[in-house]
Amino acid sequence: MNRLIIEGGCQLRGDIRCSGAKNSALPILAASLLARGSVHISNLPHLQDVTTMLELLGRMGTDVIHDEDMSVEVNSSTVRELSAPVDLVRTMRASILVLGPMLSRFGEATVAMPGGCAIGTRPVDQHIRALRQMGAEITETEEHIHARTGGHLRGAEITMELVTVTGTENVMMAATLAEGRSVIRNAACEPEVADLARCLNSWGARISGHGTDTIEIEGVKHLHGGEYAVMSDRIELGTYLAAAAMTRGCIEVFNAQPEHAGAVLDALRSMGAEIDEGEHSVRLDMKGRRPRSHDLTTAPFPAFPTDMQAQFVAVNCVAEGSARIQETVFENRFMHVQELRRMGAQIELQDNAVYVEGSDELHGSHVEATDLRASACLVLAGLAARGQTLVDNVHHIDRGYECIEEKFNLLGAEIQRTEAVTP
Ligand code: EPU
Repeated sequence: MNRLIIEGGCQLRGDIRCSGAKNSALPILAASLLARGSVHISNLPHLQDVTTMLELLGRMGTDVIHDEDMSVEVNSSTVRELSAPVDLVRTMRASILVLGPMLSRFGEATVAMPGGCAIGTRPVDQHIRALRQMGAEITETEEHIHARTGGHLRGAEITMELVTVTGTENVMMAATLAEGRSVIRNAACEPEVADLARCLNSWGARISGHGTDTIEIEGVKHLHGGEYAVMSDRIELGTYLAAAAMTRGCIEVFNAQPEHAGAVLDALRSMGAEIDEGEHSVRLDMKGRRPRSHDLTTAPFPAFPTDMQAQFVAVNCVAEGSARIQETVFENRFMHVQELRRMGAQIELQDNAVYVEGSDELHGSHVEATDLRASACLVLAGLAARGQTLVDNVHHIDRGYECIEEKFNLLGAEIQRTEAVTP
């Protein structure tokens, strides 16, 4: 079991480079199944989830060539296995993203049923409902989703019953090769959805309206493929800025797209950070001051992202004042609360909100990572705490943060990774 050992009390200073976005890379890799020719995808982050998606594509028979600098060339003309097996779906729910492309391109797909996970039950009913509207015959068992079409999917007018990111992506990918026009209403407006649409368009799809809640897709006969560079990771950007705010530091993040991080940057400004947005960079300076508490409510883009909630609970733990943070996207995304309490944080959890009383007294402790963003929150708390913090189960963090200890250490942190010995 991997463990991070964090010596707290540093003030982060310096600059780092933001990686490609995990939640953009995963659907774009899945979309390679739609293309007749090869696709070349660059700016991929070096992450466990990306490796899992590449393994999944490989097991289905796609030809994957790894280039330097985390670029890959994927050719799906050799696909022979139209299923996503349970072992991979269990390790990564985003495997569901191959359902729409496989069905649309090959007329059939079997994907192991993604179960719930640490942050919620996470059903996929909206994906299935929309694909049925496009003419797919879908059977669901406890273990599998099996989908087939009698020929091609048909374009359809679909209204999502709730805003779902991967649901919108799955349906948008399926619609690119469907017969006729599709409209997705109440679509997710997340930048990752728009990035996928731009990628598909560059490969020959005809999508418009991405980035708004109504996406239109004119089906085409095939996608020719091409090149695409994944956008930069707005959640990684926000996480490093939150860490700098918490440690009263001053950092600059390059290769960033600040236009995707509006709600997070606004929150940081309200907490007392001075922020300069460049075209591809963000600089945050706390001028050595302690952050001020700030109330937050998560919601789909452009509101404050659920993927930044845990990190901002951590910032509020050391801030001046008290704050209420409400989670509205997932029903169980506060697993970090009891771990933060071990570090002296004063937090009350009530239904789907936490009340945080800021304190100057966070201390190092032995804590356990339970999911990706919760782990990031514990690392942030460890950086700001007095003394040493041990964070166990950091495999969660490797799913979403490239070289996290190296990047933090570049900013002056003291983090070491070790193999924890199980008693
Ligand atoms: N939902 C349903 N039915 C569906 C789909 C979703 O009830 O068919 C519910 C979910 O249970 C949840 C809400 O709708 O309560 C929103 O879920 P969504 O489908 O938008 O989440 P997702 O697509 O599974 C993506 C990201 C998550 C991120 C969420 C919300 C990827 C690969 N994952 O998940 O990222 O939190 O959108 O923005 O894009 C992370 O990176 O840490 C992460 C969890």
